[in-house]
Amino acid sequence: MSELLDIELDGRAVKDEPEIPIAPVMGRKVFIETYGCQMNISDTELMMGVLKDAGYALANSPEDADIIVLNTCAIRDHAEERVMGRLGQLSSLKSQRPDLIMGVSGCMAKHVSDSLMKDAPYVDLVVGPDSYRRLPELIAEASGDSTLDVRLDRDEYYTGLDPLRKDGTNAWITIMRGCDKFCTFCIVPYVRGRERSVPAQEIVRQAQTAADEGFREITLLGQTVNSYHDGIYDFADLLEMVAKVDGLSRIRFTSPHPSDFSDKVIATMASEEKICRFIHLPVQSGSNPVLEAMQRTYTVEAYLKLVDDLRTVMPGVCLSTDIIAGFPGESQADFEATLELMAQVRYDSAFMFKYSARKGTVAFRDIPDTVSEEEKVQRLEAIINQQNLISKEINASYVGRSLAVLVQGDARKGDGMAVGKSDGFKTVVFPRDGVADNILVNVEITETTLRTLTGRIVQ
Ligand code: 5AD
Ligand code: SF4
Repeated sequence: MSELLDIELDGRAVKDEPEIPIAPVMGRKVFIETYGCQMNISDTELMMGVLKDAGYALANSPEDADIIVLNTCAIRDHAEERVMGRLGQLSSLKSQRPDLIMGVSGCMAKHVSDSLMKDAPYVDLVVGPDSYRRLPELIAEASGDSTLDVRLDRDEYYTGLDPLRKDGTNAWITIMRGCDKFCTFCIVPYVRGRERSVPAQEIVRQAQTAADEGFREITLLGQTVNSYHDGIYDFADLLEMVAKVDGLSRIRFTSPHPSDFSDKVIATMASEEKICRFIHLPVQSGSNPVLEAMQRTYTVEAYLKLVDDLRTVMPGVCLSTDIIAGFPGESQADFEATLELMAQVRYDSAFMFKYSARKGTVAFRDIPDTVSEEEKVQRLEAIINQQNLISKEINASYVGRSLAVLVQGDARKGDGMAVGKSDGFKTVVFPRDGVADNILVNVEITETTLRTLTGRIVQ
């Protein structure tokens, strides 16, 4: 409990009260560069909405901007190194234009708030994930003196704010914030604070707004999205409510926690056609002792039973996962158990990472990092190689099948090819044949690779 209080209270702010009048901002341009997960993409859209309402305009590039914000991730060391490198690059703009405001927002802003302005003295503004509502005031303050607000606020739901989205097919909607799971490797609970669920009515309002703006698909976001509970409605109720929103064809969500996947959610998924047959179900490891050391709160057996249940109720459901290679104490046998679990489940795809010790976590503090860097690299490579084979085989089995694809835009390779996503989240490329974006077409698959299915539109 005291740990929780510390987290809530350890944020600092240069000023508590927003007393400084906001300088005229009309025409001032802001550029936000996003790092990390979908939650950060959604937060960037939220910040852009707040800033647009305050009179700011969008810049097309950092060179064109009066305010640059890097919206950052702290999940692995590499993510923070990238941001430090990028800040170094952008600092040359600041030396040319001293009135340029350079900001850092998001998880890394919170994680390294003590050292960031020392390590990158050209940064004027540090904004944690719960302070985006105050962004216009904070920018005004930063025009005078460097400003920092990384307080966590368990009452901040960002209710009533409308994100500024780029046109597209999918709208991200954050339905819960923070995390109470405290997996021993993970920095998220410390940088995003306690779990809180946005009231269901507000989510339905946002979903309706997105549908009215022309989005055909929404993705409900949360660190443990299926532990959603607003005091009245749980995640299954919410799924049912958003499935009734007019104008939406598809509903996705990410990321669920295996321990919170109730039978009610499974039944709701099975009965609502609009909820896509794709589940990202992070497993992290295939070994019980490692899962226990990670405090994941499930066993391999329970996880496999869940996969079985999902596949029984929704035959053909596509699955992806997250895997960490080389968690402290992971033995050769533990590592092999992960390979075995992956071979057994046969995920469609996976995000695979080397363990990265994060200052502030239990694993960093209490569990000696026994796996050498070389061993971590080797294990990660073996995991990736095996997964790539499985993904290729699964994709190859799609040849001859016809899939409903939501058209997203032109494919990268050009040549009149369009790209879209299948219900199971496969990337599908096909000759456009005059079909517009944002509509559903049937595509018969003719060729496949590790990451892409290629085909042609059929009736
Ligand atoms: N090291 C490596 N991977 C991590 N993840 C979270 N924390 C760490 C860490 N310290 C991975 C987990 C999680 C995903 C978002 O990032 O697999 O599910
Ligand atoms: Fe991190 Fe675990 Fe929470 Fe996911 S469930 S955000 S891995 S602490």
